[in-house]
Amino acid sequence: MSKKQRQILVTSALPYANGPIHIGHLVEYIQTDIWVRFQKMQGHTCYFVCADDAHGTPIMLRAQKEDITPEALIERIGKEHQADFKEFSVTFDNFHSTHSDENQWLANTIYEALNNNGHITRRTIKQAYDPEKEMFLPDRFIRGECPNCGAPDQYGDSCESCGATYSPVDLKNPVSAVSGATPIEKESEHYFFKLKDFESMLLDWTRAGHLQPEVTNKLDEWFEAGLQEWDISRDEPYFGFEIPNAPGKYFYVWLDAPMGYLASFKNLCEKNGLDFDQWCKADSDAEMVHFIGKDIIYFHALFWPAMLHGSGFKTPSSIYAHGFLTVDGQKMSKSRGTFITARTYLDHLDPEYLRYYFAAKLGSGVDDIDLNLDDFLLRVNSDLVGKVVNIASRCAGFIKKRFAGQLSKTIHDEALLKIFIDADESIAEAYDSREYSRAMREIMSLADKANQYIDEHKPWIIAKEDGKDEELQAICSMGLNCFRLLMIYLKPVLPVMVEKSEAFLNIEPLQWRDAQSTLTDHKINSFKPLLTRVEKEKIDAMIEDSKENLEANGTATVNSGPLADNPLADEITIDDFMKVDLRIARIIKAEHVDGADKLLQLTLDLGGETRNVFAGIKSAYSPKELEGRLTVMVANLAPRKMRFGLSEGMVLAAGPGGKDIYILNPDQGATPGMKVK
Ligand code: 2FM
Ligand code: ZN
Repeated sequence: MSKKQRQILVTSALPYANGPIHIGHLVEYIQTDIWVRFQKMQGHTCYFVCADDAHGTPIMLRAQKEDITPEALIERIGKEHQADFKEFSVTFDNFHSTHSDENQWLANTIYEALNNNGHITRRTIKQAYDPEKEMFLPDRFIRGECPNCGAPDQYGDSCESCGATYSPVDLKNPVSAVSGATPIEKESEHYFFKLKDFESMLLDWTRAGHLQPEVTNKLDEWFEAGLQEWDISRDEPYFGFEIPNAPGKYFYVWLDAPMGYLASFKNLCEKNGLDFDQWCKADSDAEMVHFIGKDIIYFHALFWPAMLHGSGFKTPSSIYAHGFLTVDGQKMSKSRGTFITARTYLDHLDPEYLRYYFAAKLGSGVDDIDLNLDDFLLRVNSDLVGKVVNIASRCAGFIKKRFAGQLSKTIHDEALLKIFIDADESIAEAYDSREYSRAMREIMSLADKANQYIDEHKPWIIAKEDGKDEELQAICSMGLNCFRLLMIYLKPVLPVMVEKSEAFLNIEPLQWRDAQSTLTDHKINSFKPLLTRVEKEKIDAMIEDSKENLEANGTATVNSGPLADNPLADEITIDDFMKVDLRIARIIKAEHVDGADKLLQLTLDLGGETRNVFAGIKSAYSPKELEGRLTVMVANLAPRKMRFGLSEGMVLAAGPGGKDIYILNPDQGATPGMKVK
């Protein structure tokens, strides 16, 4: 690999500022963070920047629903995102927002350059409009029957039942998901970016090694289909930047989202005295590397390079797309408890387990990766605890107790250590080309060799024999030298464990070049546990808690909000449905639950029997206003052990969420225990 000093600006896709980070997002952030840590260990100048993607209709509506300003919403969510990233050791050099001065400057500068060069055009189009809410409706906010198969409650652009794609005007019996009104068609002038002006530049660029081969192939299909003009404006009300000299027209969120990468970097440059232009102007030698999901290739590999090229900025050096995450072979699901937020994961498990597991699964392609929870437990325990940490724990005690922490002056098995040292290039190449699973396999094969060495030399037996002190010290020192090399190679993936190991080995922060040296005649510190085993109970509790989120959020979003945020559960038959026994219950007691954000503990009278139920309705009701009221419950739900106690049923509620969650109120003439028909 070339040892030339590189200047690299690296980004991960910007998370929307209206929802929590979940483990699906984390695939990308962890993938990028590993790459950045590796490049920094190599001594390259590398900046990793990100921001919240703060604009657009969903964020505007969500803020309205919460009765706060969009600025307050994005501020709060931005803090939550950054707290999550920090705990997963996803370490940005800067985290900013697309709703920032720097981004406003970029949006205006790039737009004006494109406009001055004739790449922007205007024309009037017809669109769905909500006459009650007085706003144009994005396709996702219109629902109706599929024009192809007739399935009810489908989005305005595609049918989840038959897969057809269509225009919202074709939807039968459409309604606005915002107000429930029937949308009308309304004309308005829109601004378009003439992507076709850049066709020949893009044809060259997409074949010039900036993309993965499978992505280039996908782009060929798009070129064949013809590059369309891109609608870059939205009418007010909209949360975003107003287009210069176009009152009431705003830049579409996807126009200024990728600009947010540069806005965050510009903000960093201003804070740290870096030369933004030197990094970002068209002829810069610096690299610009974007990690993204495969669903947003069109924006990054066509619109983005065209906009940059058309406005005198540097085009991306590399765009690395990855696949989606499945859990136990299926799409993440709220009902199965596999839609796991970063926060819920952190409540139960060590983030380094996930970093390692993702590394062990990630290659350089766009294939989906699966988090198999049984395999996760086995792999982390066997590789990290059973192999890697075990090397240190088998050797450290003898060195500390018998040799006052002093390592021997020589290397006991030079040939073996040479294998460890020589692995440097191959592992580095694997990291640089994002073949992390190969890097992990090579590292674990070295760990096997170190354990075999210890097994063969049996320090625990030698320790009992007279006159073998020097040999004992040499064997354990050799083991710790192997361990030290493994720590160098694992550092991009496991920064916390390696930092603890550096303290134990009493050494400076490890760099990649340290793989060429050994640790002899050196005093180490006491060994402290570096990583504990993954426990099955903790995984189970995390899944349970993710189901708890469903009770708190899921029931509250029945028939409200886009389906994408809350996908339908698997289909059931009428027989399945008839198994659900709905009963009237009286809430005889309602209490807060210590440590639960969303739950209230309800004592329900079912007519001769009382039940304890945890219900996710705390945001909408105070306990006192519930006591004495009747409600509807699922009475034959299997009791479920939750973190706070046993929940013996489920109370039914509906509403958009937040304060607007309504428990179902039967007629006050009903009596507890009565069957709901
Ligand atoms: O798909 C998404 O989640 C977008 N918020 C990603 C934006 S990436 C970049 F373009 F800003
Ligand atoms: Zn359909």
